[in-house]
Amino acid sequence: MKFKALLPAILAIAACTTNPAGKNVPVYLDLSRSVEERVADALPRLTTEEKVALTHAQSKFSSRGVPRLGIPEVWCTDGPHGIRPEVLWDEWDQAGWTNDSCTAFPALSCLAATWDKEMSLLFGRSIGEEARYRKKDILLGPGVNICRTPLNGRNFEYMGEDPYLAGQMVVPYVKGVQENGVAACVKHFAVNNQEVRRTATSSNLDDRTLYEIYLPAFEAAVREGNAWAIMGSYNLYNGQFNCHNKRLLLDILKGEWGFDGVVVSDWGGCRDDDEAILNGLDMEFGTWTNGLTGAASDGYSNYHLANPYLQRIADGRVGTKELDDKAARVLRTIFRTSMASEPHFGSFNSPEHYAAARRIAAAGTVLLQNNGILPLNVPDGGKLVVIGENAVKKMVVGGGSSSLKTNYEITPLEALQEAFPAADVVWERGYVGDTSTSYNKVDTGQDLTDSRSAAKLLSDAIAAIEGADAVIFIGGLNKSGGQDNEGTDRADIILPYGQDAVIEALAEAVPSLIVVNISGSPVAMPWADKVGAIVQGWYGGSETGHALADVLTGAVNPSGRLPFTLPKALADGPLKTERQYPGIQEEGQEWWQEYYDEGVFVGYRWYDKQQIPVQFPFGHGLSYTEFEYGNAGLSGKAIGCAGSFSPGQGEEEVLKVTVKVSNTGSIDGAEVAQLYVCPPEGDVERPVKELRGFDKLQLAAGESGTATFSLPRRAFARFDADAHKWVVDPGQWRIEIGSSSADLRTSATVEIR
Ligand code: BGC
Repeated sequence: MKFKALLPAILAIAACTTNPAGKNVPVYLDLSRSVEERVADALPRLTTEEKVALTHAQSKFSSRGVPRLGIPEVWCTDGPHGIRPEVLWDEWDQAGWTNDSCTAFPALSCLAATWDKEMSLLFGRSIGEEARYRKKDILLGPGVNICRTPLNGRNFEYMGEDPYLAGQMVVPYVKGVQENGVAACVKHFAVNNQEVRRTATSSNLDDRTLYEIYLPAFEAAVREGNAWAIMGSYNLYNGQFNCHNKRLLLDILKGEWGFDGVVVSDWGGCRDDDEAILNGLDMEFGTWTNGLTGAASDGYSNYHLANPYLQRIADGRVGTKELDDKAARVLRTIFRTSMASEPHFGSFNSPEHYAAARRIAAAGTVLLQNNGILPLNVPDGGKLVVIGENAVKKMVVGGGSSSLKTNYEITPLEALQEAFPAADVVWERGYVGDTSTSYNKVDTGQDLTDSRSAAKLLSDAIAAIEGADAVIFIGGLNKSGGQDNEGTDRADIILPYGQDAVIEALAEAVPSLIVVNISGSPVAMPWADKVGAIVQGWYGGSETGHALADVLTGAVNPSGRLPFTLPKALADGPLKTERQYPGIQEEGQEWWQEYYDEGVFVGYRWYDKQQIPVQFPFGHGLSYTEFEYGNAGLSGKAIGCAGSFSPGQGEEEVLKVTVKVSNTGSIDGAEVAQLYVCPPEGDVERPVKELRGFDKLQLAAGESGTATFSLPRRAFARFDADAHKWVVDPGQWRIEIGSSSADLRTSATVEIR
């Protein structure tokens, strides 16, 4: 036999390793070897066809693996709030399994509102266990797009308006998921801040805005959280689709940040053969082959990274360098997940997961206003009147790809009835909003139809409050089209379905009306001065009702803080022109164009700059107890860190700040101490203040603790687009610490030289 014919066998033997049982196994199957050794061993064993098969879908949520070598398929699942029910191989409808009802965790806007990294780790670990149990390798979440406009239909899936908050909260989530041998897929990269024309709009912005506002949360997920996957977004950035945007994927993500995981396309977000090959996309998933429309069913071999790719390699238009990189990344993902050296089995629907969901949902609930009516006190034999659709509407189903099928969902009304078994807890609807109950054929089984007129609904509600010890209105948004929902934005921030008028009428009859707003994005509250208490609730998942009742009854002392500003009106915000939002059509341009003219001034950065009063500021949230702050203590009065540094640097601590916080009330509670830095005046206009630290302290009644903040050089930096560097300006910087962005309790000055 010729040597050449023997070569593959010789190479295979050379690539074998002896495992502890004394048997020879190929290196890629040897769990004692490092992931990189296994990738290096596996890659050359693959044919070109097998490598290409790794890079594109074979079904709605899976790709093929390499069956010949025992390398398994890769399975993805939505999404950030729970494990999506199984769908059919090539359809979005659920497959009808009877064992795929998951624990529904709270929406990410609620997680962000906990301002608690421990809650984020608990969330990540719990959902990671559910994903692993369901044999999913990539969890399509979390999402960290900045709340640029309150109208964005997907704000509920994201972590608020501040890049630092989102960046701090995403890291533990990613780590917790990945502890289970499941890749977190951080989405949607990047500048994907609206749903209107999401597949046809170019977000155009300068580098300063990009680096200071829209990238940091992704950067934290990659560089601190070591995320194994990232999802390109549907929109374009500066004229190129983001699933194959060279600047975002090759220069920044894989270049500056050194990302070694897989870039996954959003479903149907890949739009061009050559760009898909050359610009850093690794795995193409989708609906059809042409964006989100067109082509035959089961058309996976027509995907950009399927036959068109093979054809280009065959006729020499592209080489295999990119293919090897993509295949190596997919193999790395497999060796990190389904073929990880440490086996993980996960768990599903465990009591611990439901307990975690309840804890997180309660910790994120924000007490916005309280005249003392809360916590609720309803005597035995007393009467509690609950009004509003969101007291009964189940909202785990709906919202788009994050819609879930859950074992159970406790509504607020059910939980309040449970909390006050000896009282008469009465419900009236007050208004009819949305009667839909299903998404992709998962149905809540509720019948929400109601034929009463608006006037009758209101008069029935007013009649019900007769003799009540307390009245709670529970309304807000829902997860249907035009509300908090993928694919659509809202038209305004006023409450839909005439709820403002209902609240006003109720407030006239009951001055101590308690209003609970359930939403995933900011709403206007023009009646705020006329009601007794206001609570911001969220889509809390399976345990949503229990969590809300925990806070209303005082079983849990509220400690959530707003992750975004609640403005008084939409018009107060930074987006003034169609150019800014929702985009315009320009001559000669194929796609809609949108310009981030407001620059870095989004959220509180805008309201601060313009000195526009808001309803409730970023970071705001009350407690049933009181906290007092001591004086800020700085590790130095002057630091020598002025100057510039390259992206990816500046992590070294330059200042430590501490402050004593005391619980001066009579019940236990938690305070979120927030640190903002205020730059000196300079040539470049900067936000008045920016969040650079927060510390959530659990303090028993009468107890004191110390909030500690570690500030790296980057905390003081602005991005200089021309120099492509971070710059720290010298001068007197103020450090402000307090209970919200508008309730600052202590400040100190540091000189930067
Ligand atoms: C969404 C993604 C989601 C994917 C798969 C897309 O339409 O934008 O967030 O993960 O579908 O369901």
